[in-house]
Amino acid sequence: MTLSFPPGFLWGAASAAYQVEGAAQEDGRTPSIWDTFSHTPGKVLAGDTGDVAVDHYHRFREDVRLMSELNLGAYRFSVSWSRVQPTGRGPAVQRGLDFYRALVDELLGAGIQPVLTLYHWDLPQELENAGGWPERETAERFAEYAGIVAGALGDRVEFWTTLNEPWCSAFLGYGSGVHAPGRTERLAPLRAAHHLNLAHGLGAQALRAALPARAQVAISLNPAVVRPLTDKPEDLDAQRRIDALANRVFSGPLLRGAYPSDLIRDTASITDWSFVRDGDLAVIKHPLDALGINYYTPSLVSAADDEESAARNDGHGDSSHSPWPGSERVSFHQTPGERTEMGWTIDPSGLHDLLMRYSREAPGVPLYITENGAAFDDKPDAEGAVHDPQRIDYLQAHLAAAHQAIADGADLRGYFLWSLMDNFEWAYGYSKRFGAVYIDYPTQARVPKSSAHWYARVARTGELPAA
Ligand code: FCB
Repeated sequence: MTLSFPPGFLWGAASAAYQVEGAAQEDGRTPSIWDTFSHTPGKVLAGDTGDVAVDHYHRFREDVRLMSELNLGAYRFSVSWSRVQPTGRGPAVQRGLDFYRALVDELLGAGIQPVLTLYHWDLPQELENAGGWPERETAERFAEYAGIVAGALGDRVEFWTTLNEPWCSAFLGYGSGVHAPGRTERLAPLRAAHHLNLAHGLGAQALRAALPARAQVAISLNPAVVRPLTDKPEDLDAQRRIDALANRVFSGPLLRGAYPSDLIRDTASITDWSFVRDGDLAVIKHPLDALGINYYTPSLVSAADDEESAARNDGHGDSSHSPWPGSERVSFHQTPGERTEMGWTIDPSGLHDLLMRYSREAPGVPLYITENGAAFDDKPDAEGAVHDPQRIDYLQAHLAAAHQAIADGADLRGYFLWSLMDNFEWAYGYSKRFGAVYIDYPTQARVPKSSAHWYARVARTGELPAA
């Protein structure tokens, strides 16, 4: 049976500045934490860096043409903070802003709605040198930066998101250290989480002050679908703990204006949370025009007797350091079922669960799936064509789950495929291909995979063909 999506449903694809742009040292851009991290031996597979990436900075016109051919209604991209404000403070660099203005104009000219993310993990290195996200000042700097970008692009971009997946910035960046800046601490991730929340709140205020009333202000989270291995009380407690650190540390202040009391208890040996100042929570609970949800795979957890036996198989790369401060004694298990090239189990029911949960938790707030997709070991055949039936199956199943969520009452307004093109997959470098468009890295040739043609049809008709 064919499934029809509501009229006006937004069909898009997503990317992020450091993963696609390249031109790392051009036009006044200075290093971000990801430049420093990727140039540190041993941090990224094969020593890959984003120096060139997919050269989108120079090829964006060709890339927008490609988006047009794929019938995309929207393109979600991020702005590189150190390209527009190199030191993370003070005046902007006009050439940096000009690049984004040209990109936005190209999109609008093609009838594609720009969806702008202000922060997709690439903190200017100078701000990390001053302490990074664990320091309050970084949130204040972010608000200034938000105002600069809104001032430059507010006349033509209507859909804004502050942060992408603050969980990764805080807990992978400052806890397990598998992401930039690679710090492995216990207090820093909690402080970082709060200052990211505060950055969202202050940033949203700055956006509101600079943007026309029609603009939408959102945030993209990567809420975890956490399932217990058994219904034994200790496994249910493991589930509760991870849910607090993965989800409610953000949804609590954002949607309810408070940090969950169980999270505060679980982390009591690390902090009394006195870095949360009077008034912060009111700033963070800024009304959202939309909520972005990124989903890939669920988590399966159980209690562990001690920290050593807590296998860190949580799908976020190898590290002997835990990204779960105060809840280190939790084991992550592989959910049964087929997996993608990332080792992530394919389970579309998790997407349905998340959409229903956030419909309840954020009543009246429209939802967007701002990322969903899969990496597979795609290779061109003898004719140079790239066939990726597994990705088509993945997308088909997840879009069917999204459709079911709409039928069950979720106010889901759009879907952004991760990703438009293969790109720099963080600590995995170029080894993982998430694109609907294949990149031949030596020549930078773009080859739409069969999933791109499949998705183009879905985007054109608003209909999901039967599996
Ligand atoms: C998400 C990131 C995105 C991409 C996908 C695979 O966590 O937001 O940049 O790397 O995972």
